[in-house]
Amino acid sequence: MRIIVLGGDGYLGWPTAMALAHRGHEVWALDNYLRRNLARETCSEALMQNPNLHDRADLFASLSGRKIEVEIADCADYRQLSPIFAKVRPEAVIHYAEQPSAPYSMMSFDAARVTLNNNLNATLNVIWGVVQHSPACHIIKLGTMGEYGTPNIDIEEGWIDIEHKGRKDRFLFPRQAGSLYHTTKILDTDLLWFYVRLYGLRVTDLMQGPVYGLATEAADQDDRLAPNFHYDDIFGTVVNRFLVQAVAGVPLTVYGKGGQTRGYLNLKDTLQCVELALNNPVEAGVLRVLNQFTEQLTVTEIAEKVRRAAGQAGLEVKVESIPNPRKEKEEHYYNAKHHGLVELGLKPHLMTDEVLVDMLERVAKHSGQIDARKVLPRVRWN
Ligand SMILES: NC(=O)c1ccc[n+]([C@@H]2O[C@H](COP(=O)([O-])OP(=O)(O)OC[C@H]3O[C@@H](n4cnc5c(N)ncnc54)[C@H](O)[C@@H]3O)[C@@H](O)[C@H]2O)c1
Repeated sequence: MRIIVLGGDGYLGWPTAMALAHRGHEVWALDNYLRRNLARETCSEALMQNPNLHDRADLFASLSGRKIEVEIADCADYRQLSPIFAKVRPEAVIHYAEQPSAPYSMMSFDAARVTLNNNLNATLNVIWGVVQHSPACHIIKLGTMGEYGTPNIDIEEGWIDIEHKGRKDRFLFPRQAGSLYHTTKILDTDLLWFYVRLYGLRVTDLMQGPVYGLATEAADQDDRLAPNFHYDDIFGTVVNRFLVQAVAGVPLTVYGKGGQTRGYLNLKDTLQCVELALNNPVEAGVLRVLNQFTEQLTVTEIAEKVRRAAGQAGLEVKVESIPNPRKEKEEHYYNAKHHGLVELGLKPHLMTDEVLVDMLERVAKHSGQIDARKVLPRVRWN
């Protein structure tokens, strides 16, 4: 298939581009380096150096014999995106190209504006690129489980049947996000649903939980092909922050009571899920929503897992609670369905001691570059 990976320089986009090229697809990786620029502006650089996208693609080609075409372009600018869609006429688009940090989106008015404009314009432009140049193209869009928030009822897979005053209908599951970033993802879903209804597009919206992991088959060929690894409070996820704190010999900092529950998944499973969506496309006029995670964990459970794995790696680790910089429930009901991808064939890789020890070892190789001050919260929700 001819596939464009939007956000192809990112944590998920780069391993996805390699995996799909490895399968023999024709792959274009498109990015405008927004993530690298915002990370520099906020002193949140990745722990390991990642070569630029052209250099990564050249290295990958020399090792695998597979080509990834690189396009440096801004998805939020239709004049840049449209010619690329016209040239490639993609059969599938994997849309990762968004500002993905909740803390960044809550930093200031300017950061909120960048997040809203970038994410909504990118999604609108992807829709129009498909409408105008490749209407049968399957859009695989990365949404987030954070769109649902933490409701006091079970979270369904995208849709809910409602009976009201004796009549029934099916609606998108109610969504109530906890950050502006997550709210832009809700708005993306609404935009996609509108164009699916009106123009008969084919869309899969993958409601993904936080992803962890550095190992993939293609990335493990050479350290320079590794995905980016951010560990600071703005672009790092909780798992990365804890791993770095363990290696740096400082306590793992749990926000508040630590009962915040989310659905997590291994990077290897993101690659599987995207490929499963790709190989099982939806009909025209369908918005398929799949909840993409493999296990539900609280923050305290993750801290405990990292502490145990660190112990196996000979590191002694303490866990401490700090005031929560976010406005969120710290203890709550959480039960989210996630059957769709398993039914399509997903074989989960769980957060085992072995996986965490492997990540700790990779982080430890770069311990000299760790700046432990970056891990503590710099952004407060109000
Ligand atoms: N990583 C996770 O845990 C996670 C969890 C749930 C959802 N997601 C979603 O998955 C997607 C990818 O996340 P990630 O962790 O790889 O983030 P990332 O920031 O590493 O990757 C996103 C990439 O998109 C690029 N980009 C952003 N706006 C762009 C634009 N206008 N034009 C071109 N390129 C642009 C960035 O430069 C970056 O390289 C995001 O949409 C995010 O919301 C990620």
